Amino acid sequence: MLKPKPSIDTIQPYQGGKPIEEVRRELGITTDIIKLASNENPFGPSPLAMQAISESATQVHLYPDGNAYYLKADLAEYFNISAEHLILGNGSNDVLQFVAEAYLAPGDEVIYAAGAFVVYSLVTKLCSATAVVVPMVAHTHDLSAMAAAITEKTKVIFVANPNNPTGTMVTAEETAAFMERVPDDVLVVFDEAYYEYVDRSDYPQTLPYVLAGRNFIITRTFSKIYGLAGLRIGYGIAPPPLIETLNRVRQPFNCSLVGQAAARAALKDTAHVTKSREQNAVGKAFLYEAFDDMGLRYVESEGNFIMLHLEQSGADIADALLKEGVIVRPIGGYGYPNAVRVTIGTQQENEKFIKALKVVSH
Ligand SMILES: Cc1ncc(COP(=O)(O)O)c(C=O)c1O
Repeated sequence: MLKPKPSIDTIQPYQGGKPIEEVRRELGITTDIIKLASNENPFGPSPLAMQAISESATQVHLYPDGNAYYLKADLAEYFNISAEHLILGNGSNDVLQFVAEAYLAPGDEVIYAAGAFVVYSLVTKLCSATAVVVPMVAHTHDLSAMAAAITEKTKVIFVANPNNPTGTMVTAEETAAFMERVPDDVLVVFDEAYYEYVDRSDYPQTLPYVLAGRNFIITRTFSKIYGLAGLRIGYGIAPPPLIETLNRVRQPFNCSLVGQAAARAALKDTAHVTKSREQNAVGKAFLYEAFDDMGLRYVESEGNFIMLHLEQSGADIADALLKEGVIVRPIGGYGYPNAVRVTIGTQQENEKFIKALKVVSH
């Protein structure tokens, strides 16, 4: 058999949340199944986005605009920046991969936290770079320890804020102290996939680092609060010279025509975003209370999901929940064998999840 390059052998294929249809097929479940496993928006896409999707359907025999001119123009106006600060990805994962492909070579060091979003490890291995994995403190990125881990070989530092699967965030003060310690030739990536869900006043606004011309990339996505995970649109915000570099590794038509149209419409539907954020807060409070009543420990989350500690294997509980028609995510792969991550659903879904959890946990 043909051998891949050595670093590929160390990659475990990404385990996504099981699709509903797969669970139905595998377990022969005929009743309703709910998926609370991939931090999608339980309220669905914006109605404006759905309209844009059906309108753009007539055009799908054409290639999309590879430069995403209109979506970039809308985002540029939204952020009051120039379109040269933006790059579009097939999901924000695509942008994380551009970073690795453009900047990482064997021997380069990449710093990220143990228990941080798994894609940082995947793209580091993909490029045969060396991972420097820094332990978290209280399930939270330890920015001070991450700064202390910088060496002359450090090329990129990934920070998920808020982090998946722990749901924790670093503060503006911690970020400012960290950025003072990061040398100019190190690229900092702040992955803000759950940005729109955060309501803490000490959450860092990172755009000023980009506008100050630091080697800084913010990644955001339409997959979470905007409810378009299935269309794969994410983006990066960075100083124009960095964007120009990232564009060299981007495939010419990486963002679909329908996805671009839907994202433009979703961006304008502020009512849908507000409703999703508010309902998420309500669902979070409901779940916290239910967990408290059951005597279960959890990590307070700034996102649309909660990491729940268990007295037993998270994989076993996730399997048992599947049989009750509820898909959650075991997170043993993140170093938390006795925990699961559950996405905050609609009220009905949250109630079904709690009912099922009471059945399976003892
Ligand atoms: C922290 C974080 N970053 C990035 C992503 C990637 O999202 P997408 O590629 O759909 O934009 C996710 C998805 O779960 C995530 O949790």
